Amino acid sequence: MDRIGFGVIGCGAIANIWYLPQLQRLADQGIELVAVADLVAEKAEAARARYGARLATTDYREVLERPDIQAVVIATTIATHAPIAIEALRAGKHVLLQKPIATSLAEADQVIAAARASGCKLQVEPAHRLHPLAQRARHLIAEGAIGQVCLVKARSAHGGPPDRPWFYRRDQGGSVVFDMGVHALHWLLAVAGPARRVTAFARTSVPVRTVNGQPVEVDIEDNAVLLLDLQNGALGVVVTNYCTQAQLVPQVEIHGTAGTLYLNAPQGGLLLYSQRAQYCGESGWLVATREVGHQARVLDVAGLRDTPTMRAVSSLEHFIECLRTGRDPVPSGEDARHTLEIMVRALTAAETGQAQTLTTTTA
Ligand SMILES: NC(=O)c1ccc[n+]([C@@H]2O[C@H](COP(=O)([O-])OP(=O)(O)OC[C@H]3O[C@@H](n4cnc5c(N)ncnc54)[C@H](O)[C@@H]3O)[C@@H](O)[C@H]2O)c1
Repeated sequence: MDRIGFGVIGCGAIANIWYLPQLQRLADQGIELVAVADLVAEKAEAARARYGARLATTDYREVLERPDIQAVVIATTIATHAPIAIEALRAGKHVLLQKPIATSLAEADQVIAAARASGCKLQVEPAHRLHPLAQRARHLIAEGAIGQVCLVKARSAHGGPPDRPWFYRRDQGGSVVFDMGVHALHWLLAVAGPARRVTAFARTSVPVRTVNGQPVEVDIEDNAVLLLDLQNGALGVVVTNYCTQAQLVPQVEIHGTAGTLYLNAPQGGLLLYSQRAQYCGESGWLVATREVGHQARVLDVAGLRDTPTMRAVSSLEHFIECLRTGRDPVPSGEDARHTLEIMVRALTAAETGQAQTLTTTTA
């Protein structure tokens, strides 16, 4: 596939921060941004004008009807992900879908079935598994650098979106677990593999928030802790909320019988403590940072220098590579379904007080 025509559906924050500039940058590599759609005409038109699309529309079906578009990025509000993805796949478009894949398991199944039936590629964000830190952590664990993994803690939290009220509305797919917990879960699953059971506590800690200067009633959980029983025998903890104003702790911690790994630690991208001398010598600690401090030793993390943050992997470039090579994208619909099942059952567990057994798995 030399030339690939793209449509972008949903021209909000993430499309403008991430996908639209990247698509524009890839123009000399056979990528063409053909059409953009947003329910808000001004947003679609602004994206068209700024990034050079041929068409701006408020009706995403116009994007799906175009024969000069082979692939679409769907970056809309959460409740619309599955319905739009299903239509796009049925229209024969490859789909890069923002997270989560859907808001229910039944919907997720329909998205996956539509992808299978169409033969089109489906990739669901976030692609943390492709990140050099996740891959390096996986290799270190497989090599035995920290022994048997016993506990993985992952966190994704901030103070809550200050400008878009839909994030606090359940009917639009709002949920801190769906929006933010999904990141921590993907990191956790990327380094430690799938889960078999989940339980959780969740609550609305801030029932009224100020959004665009106006009070907004919050009808979602904005604070949750998930506990996971992982298939590898370790336990997992996911902390996610819109209640964190600042943080100085690693985003992912992995504790094993012979060591500890921190990912995205404030002191450096990856910190390894290992009792095995071949990794860390006598001090026990090894630090991988982008800027090597006077006491830091450099752990070779391929790509780290070019990928300074946890979300810096280009999921879009991976998606394009998969379209060109025929490879299967990561995360797949099935991977995303496992994450969704954990999230959906975690919310059920929080409501009922009962731990939930999972029926899906992931690679
Ligand atoms: N903002 C971020 O930093 C960020 C980061 C990662 C992922 N995400 C995810 O990306 C998605 C979008 O988030 P956002 O922050 O860009 O929100 P946003 O509100 O800024 O943008 C969403 C856009 O989708 C449009 N939209 C909704 N329904 C539509 C439809 N039927 N047809 C066309 N357009 C439609 C809205 O008008 C809006 O402009 C969410 O799933 C979110 O979880 C956001």
